[in-house]
Amino acid sequence: MLQRMPVFRTIEAHKEEIAATLAEVVPGVERTLMVELLADAFVESFTGSVRDGNLNGLIEWVDRMCDVHAETPGVATFFSRVCPAFESYLANHGYDQAYCAPLRALDGPIHEAAEKPRRAARTSDGKLNLVDAAINSMLVRLDGADPLTAEHSRAVAAWCSRLARRLTLSDEMVSFVARCGMIHDIGKVTTPTHILHAPRQLTDEEWAFMRDHTVQGDLIVRADPSLLQFAPMVRGHHERLDGRGYPDKIGGDEIALATRIVTVADCFNAMIGRRPYRPPMSPARALEQLDKNKGTQFDPDVAAAMHDVVREIEAAKAEPATDA
Ligand SMILES: [Fe+2]
Ligand SMILES: [Fe+2]
Repeated sequence: MLQRMPVFRTIEAHKEEIAATLAEVVPGVERTLMVELLADAFVESFTGSVRDGNLNGLIEWVDRMCDVHAETPGVATFFSRVCPAFESYLANHGYDQAYCAPLRALDGPIHEAAEKPRRAARTSDGKLNLVDAAINSMLVRLDGADPLTAEHSRAVAAWCSRLARRLTLSDEMVSFVARCGMIHDIGKVTTPTHILHAPRQLTDEEWAFMRDHTVQGDLIVRADPSLLQFAPMVRGHHERLDGRGYPDKIGGDEIALATRIVTVADCFNAMIGRRPYRPPMSPARALEQLDKNKGTQFDPDVAAAMHDVVREIEAAKAEPATDA
């Protein structure tokens, strides 16, 4: 872990200009739009990684980019040259020298990733697979930190997908919302296990730690440029329609529909699941709780959709099996 640095805002204000300069490490003909996009994403991710004091996510991301874009001209060249170029740009433009240490630490692993021989693994939808790979690596992390939260996350993803279908969202939105559900609690990798599994109500101080998983999750997700689109949902899944949630106390339309779906799926799954300090609720009782709190905590349309989803599942269970 590197020491956290209070200097990131300096770069933050000039990210586009820096990225444009960095893209120039690639000779003209190979400087494609993809190289420019990767330069933007690199600067974005670098600032986040330095702020959080953790460079590993950035190294993993570069490795994945080199795999996915193995056939794209300029990508390997960009990554093999970017760190020294970044460092000399910062030195020549009067930036804080504290950025140099992380760039030097990154140079070796990133250069190695860029030079690694790659088999071009072309897929029909490389972008989707890239997001899936990133989400998968988040789940592996969660499984390692707390298998129960990982299990909960998979279940929430399934509820999200059912709710999104019931709300007749597009296929693209259904899969977006399901992925949000999959990583909504990723910030819990930073929550001490004795707090996650406390067999009692939490103290105020413990609650502060627990609530912080939303902010930590936001930071973790933002450190991976292919997951940026999920960050607001990860941060906002404990917000409430009436503005009394956390961490930002936003409310109403400020909370995106995808987030409102995750919130209902999350709370419903938590209510019907086992908790260290109480037995599971029946689905009927959990639906009552959704109703009691719709309009204040939960989106009423999403709560209504959960009734339909549960009814469908129960109807399917009641149907006699037709195959042997
Ligand atoms: Fe959560
Ligand atoms: Fe959750």
